Amino acid sequence: MYSVILAGGSGTRLFPLSRSEYPKQFIPLLDKESLFQKAVLRACLYSMPDEIYVVTNEAHKFLVRDQLEEMDADCHILTEPCGKNTLPAIQYVVSEIAKRDPDAVVAVFASDQLIEADGRYTRAIDQACVLAKTHLVVFGVVPTSPHTGYGYIRPGAALEEGYVVDAFVEKPDAPTAERYLAEKYLWNAGMFCFGVPIFLEECKKLSPEVYAAFQKPTDEAYNLTPKISMDYGIMEKTDKAAVVPLISSWSDLGSFEALYSVMDKDSLGNVVEGEYLSPDGKNNLIISDKLVATLGLSNVAVIDTPDVLLVCPKDQSQNVGEITALLQKNG
Ligand code: GDD
Ligand code: MG
Repeated sequence: MYSVILAGGSGTRLFPLSRSEYPKQFIPLLDKESLFQKAVLRACLYSMPDEIYVVTNEAHKFLVRDQLEEMDADCHILTEPCGKNTLPAIQYVVSEIAKRDPDAVVAVFASDQLIEADGRYTRAIDQACVLAKTHLVVFGVVPTSPHTGYGYIRPGAALEEGYVVDAFVEKPDAPTAERYLAEKYLWNAGMFCFGVPIFLEECKKLSPEVYAAFQKPTDEAYNLTPKISMDYGIMEKTDKAAVVPLISSWSDLGSFEALYSVMDKDSLGNVVEGEYLSPDGKNNLIISDKLVATLGLSNVAVIDTPDVLLVCPKDQSQNVGEITALLQKNG
């Protein structure tokens, strides 16, 4: 199997730890490994390094190269001239793989998620491989909230493994997400598995502008192609989707609260990266190179970086986008 790792996003939801120049997937968060490196390790369960393709952009190719070198993983790095979202990135790499093996099975992984690579995970990939020649396979996670940042999947009839996808809806609005939660839809984990021929056929049929662009040399293709994600460009439109359940632990670590939830805590529930002094602080997330001291503060995140200090209630940390929006507005 070939593995593709998408590492070109500029996820800023962990601002100020992550920035457009140092996105979330490259920050060493847990066990001193970045989410990108963890994605490479998961890919290594099914692919030799020579069968792993990382797709990223000019700005991050050295970060990718250094993090791969650290792991001694000699994978292919494809550099995009500009980011056009995930469908062009996937079309680009699938065209490259097709030159080596036109019938290959390809698994596509995001690099911004934390997934436990246990037996439940390998079971899901094994199931996906069975379906991949005839289906575009997605991985369904049981939702825990009406989150509007995910794709929602309605499973239909059972297949030999997994289920037909009756409906795929990317990033619904809040009332729709509430309804989907009640109707037992699944979240799209953001991973895909398919055979090269079925992907190319579906892309040609459903996103013909993207497909046509990639019949040209890469630079020209990136000028021509529209900006569109795999989810909007293919998954919402195809009638050849299947879903397999992913029941191992999965988190996209999209907020400091989510990050806090997976990190080791001390007896008062504090997560401390650095040094922390407090007579009463509980359930705080403290990341700083300086000694941090608090009085009368619990359930807060204190994220200290060389140029920005963020302090907020942990349960509001999913809104840091409001700060990055202000920053952009004020230049
Ligand atoms: N090479 C490349 N080029 N990679 C990209 C680009 C690009 O232009 N844009 C995004 N990526 C990478 C990101 O780094 C990330 O690893 C992955 O592709 C997914 O992109 P996101 O931008 O993080 O997508 P999302 O989180 O909004 O939504 C996707 O993931 C959700 C689960 O986390 C969708 O697949 C949703 O349906 C899904 O629920
Ligand atoms: Mg994401």
